[in-house]
Amino acid sequence: MAKHDLDPNYLDPNYEPVVNHTENTPFHQVLAARMQRRTVMKGSVGAALASVMGLGLAGCGSDSNDSTTSSNVSSTDIGFKAVPTSTANEVVVPEGYSSETFLPWGTPITGSYPDYKPDGTNTGAEQEQQVGMHHDGVHFFPIDQKAGGNSSTEGLLVMNHEYIAQGALHANGATYVNDMRPADEVRKEIAAHGVSVVHIKRDTNGKWDIVFGSPFNRRITGNTEMDIRGPVRGYSKLITKYSPDATETRGTLNNCAMGPTPWGTYLAAEENWHGYFANGDESQPREQTRHGVGSSSRYDWELADSAEDQYVRFNVSTLGATAADDYRNEANTYGYMVEIDPFTPESKPQKRTALGRFGHEGVIFAPVKEGEPVVCYSGDDSRFEYIYKFVSSKPYYAATAGGYLLDEGTLYVARFNDDGSGDWLSLDLDNADFKAKVDAAVGTMVGDVAFDGFENQADVLLNTRLAADIAGATTMDRPEWGAVDPISGQVYFTLTNNSNRGKEGYDGVNAANPNEINRTGHIIRWSEEGNDHTATSFDWDIFVFAGEQGTETVVDDEVIVSLTDDNIFNSPDGLWFDYNGRLWIQTDGSDAAPYQNNMMLAANPETREIKRFFVGPVGCEVTGVVSTPDVKTMFVNIQHPDGNWPDSNDPRPRDATVIVTKDDGGVIGA
Ligand code: FEO
Ligand code: CA
Ligand code: CA
Ligand code: CA
Repeated sequence: MAKHDLDPNYLDPNYEPVVNHTENTPFHQVLAARMQRRTVMKGSVGAALASVMGLGLAGCGSDSNDSTTSSNVSSTDIGFKAVPTSTANEVVVPEGYSSETFLPWGTPITGSYPDYKPDGTNTGAEQEQQVGMHHDGVHFFPIDQKAGGNSSTEGLLVMNHEYIAQGALHANGATYVNDMRPADEVRKEIAAHGVSVVHIKRDTNGKWDIVFGSPFNRRITGNTEMDIRGPVRGYSKLITKYSPDATETRGTLNNCAMGPTPWGTYLAAEENWHGYFANGDESQPREQTRHGVGSSSRYDWELADSAEDQYVRFNVSTLGATAADDYRNEANTYGYMVEIDPFTPESKPQKRTALGRFGHEGVIFAPVKEGEPVVCYSGDDSRFEYIYKFVSSKPYYAATAGGYLLDEGTLYVARFNDDGSGDWLSLDLDNADFKAKVDAAVGTMVGDVAFDGFENQADVLLNTRLAADIAGATTMDRPEWGAVDPISGQVYFTLTNNSNRGKEGYDGVNAANPNEINRTGHIIRWSEEGNDHTATSFDWDIFVFAGEQGTETVVDDEVIVSLTDDNIFNSPDGLWFDYNGRLWIQTDGSDAAPYQNNMMLAANPETREIKRFFVGPVGCEVTGVVSTPDVKTMFVNIQHPDGNWPDSNDPRPRDATVIVTKDDGGVIGA
């Protein structure tokens, strides 16, 4: 198998390496998705909203089996007039809607509220008090959520800052002196990563602003102290000089998408964390090779001209006598879902290792039911990686629910069978099937890894990708965001693209990833057996294939979707069901003709009607969307814009949130 092309593309911000060299799926040529019609289950939107927001229990999850539309179900029709594709360096929204930018990178939100300096001279300490760069996943927590309320005028907006543009961040880009980086530049870069918690409020004129001085305003960065929780806590392979008992680490990095938990906290995903570490050793452990850790790092933080431990730790070479004397294991403390409690500003973020260690794009929770396990789904966004599901061991009770529910449970990986069925394959050594597969694999090559077994379940979770290879999961075309339909319970995932699918030396097509050299991506969905999210089997189909005008999605020989000027798109990435059951699709793909700038579309999950709602400025990806509970204010993130957006007088592009409202104050999308 060809070596993965890590180095030449390393500075490509959207680059995700191919590091899965297993060949799990046989070659199949399938030209169209084969789908079975199924009855979509209905439930009350109110109950679905309460469940999604964690706001109460009456009726939650107890969806009736009535397949007819009941009077209390809002229509998910798409009511606006589609906007055309655009090459303008501005946000485009439909007639009757307005947009304004909010919380651009550098906005002061805490501490001494240091002003943003357009000349790039803000210090590292100042960046620690300002909104980070490269906005991504975002959620709005109503300020009264803990008290059972659902305010749409005041809340905590929590968002990820996935990575940075060094050229915009500093006065003159990244600098080096004698091959070392000025430590304060590195401090600023680390601070521009992570998560922002911003207390925001709408005034009587409808204008949103930061609540200055609020104790909730907070920055979590690549240097914030965090706990390791779950089965990997205390495992010897996480011992570092900083945490000789392997229970703590510092920072969260490359936070892509996120998921709000049913108990009012925020899970930030760690996606392409491998790029922050450098390993100069002759050989690397499988915990690094299966992710693509290289001999140099993306931003050279380990080259800071300071002996401070906070920088030294990015060098994961073997330097000391034991693991407690160096940072050889630092990268093993990354690759998790990180729980942040925005309502408790002093709380320490918790890395929830039971959800696995991989390139987490995000996480999406199924609606919770009192007394039943908590279930969530997470995709691993790299070519030929997998989709996972976690089912908690302990039952959910609204009164006592908390992050502990994520520390014990079973992690499964998805196998999409060619007949439209699917199976969740346990990655638990206590599962006889998985144990047998592991035992059989010992002494063999699993991809590029000479497999010599797993020490324990912590070792399995640390090497989740390897475990999934052994389990026989289906390699996917880069799983990005997931979303659960609040009405039907169906789970949707974007498969953004896979330029290597079917190429010599790589996995061929399979029914769930049926396009060779899949440049434009598709959206897959499934129903768990019995609409029970803890089930170990499911039925899947393809919701839509992205592409140019005329791209068809065919169901039972009938063309269900044929894309037109109103809805061509490529590389679906962000995905979110709003509280009325409309599906929002965001793109991070080619901005060449005919697609032009990246965009967001709205879809009716039942009819598959899709319309373009929003187009971003030049060069950006549109990623991260949420609304207030009344779906009358929408927050959409613009990441890595190109030119001087949003301020034509500022030479630096600034990632920002865009607030979208309907001019008549109505429900967005209706
Ligand atoms: Fe962070 Fe998969 O995009
Ligand atoms: Ca991206
Ligand atoms: Ca993404
Ligand atoms: Ca993407």
